[in-house]
Amino acid sequence: MEHIDAELEILNSSLNNPVVLEEYKKRYDDYKPHLLPRILGHLLVWCGNTVYGKKPSYLKFRAVEVIARVPYHSWDSASFTFLTMFYQNEEKAMHLAQLSQFARLASDNETMHVVVISALAKVEQKANVVVHTVIPMLFAFFYFWAAYWLYVFNPRDAFELNYLFESHAFEQYSRFLEENEEELKKKTMSSKYLEWYGRAPLNQYEFFKSVRNDEIIHRNKSIEEIEKLGNRG
Ligand SMILES: [Fe+2]
Ligand SMILES: [Fe+2]
Repeated sequence: MEHIDAELEILNSSLNNPVVLEEYKKRYDDYKPHLLPRILGHLLVWCGNTVYGKKPSYLKFRAVEVIARVPYHSWDSASFTFLTMFYQNEEKAMHLAQLSQFARLASDNETMHVVVISALAKVEQKANVVVHTVIPMLFAFFYFWAAYWLYVFNPRDAFELNYLFESHAFEQYSRFLEENEEELKKKTMSSKYLEWYGRAPLNQYEFFKSVRNDEIIHRNKSIEEIEKLGNRG
């Protein structure tokens, strides 16, 4: 249980209720990101769809999750760098420390997604080393620096790009749950990693639902970070 934040887990479970989920989602459904994050976001989704297909699958999710954890690590690193310079400004330090806390929780959460999903994928699909391992790894390397500098020069754009990426992840998991509901409910879960993380879903349907909920939380929290920037002027 050491890696999960109790408040986030309560929020996650509450989103199992479709009415609560709809309310939570509606909050930022109409958010309009700027042109640069929109271009980058489209490019990211287009690349993913071209290489892994439009249809959600275990191995596509594996690749998505390798990429998804990267910006959080970038933000955490960038805020660490900024704290080397701005530790004397207490207000700024607190803001950076809070962002870093969110980024670390989110990156631990994405790590859980990738570890558990890749174990499930092993049973379901045959992976191709280049397509499913090398490409996401190389991409993650470049994405780390892209997300790092984007955050340094324009945090709003960095959060907006993440909003788009997380929206895509949420949609893909929602579609996967809809299309495979019966089948997923029959598949049991046993994962030492997930147990250590602190979750105990009864079946794959419950597991993927909790992942879907994580993604909408990440999406909304990205915009909440922009609002915090606005409040600081
Ligand atoms: Fe994820
Ligand atoms: Fe996410």
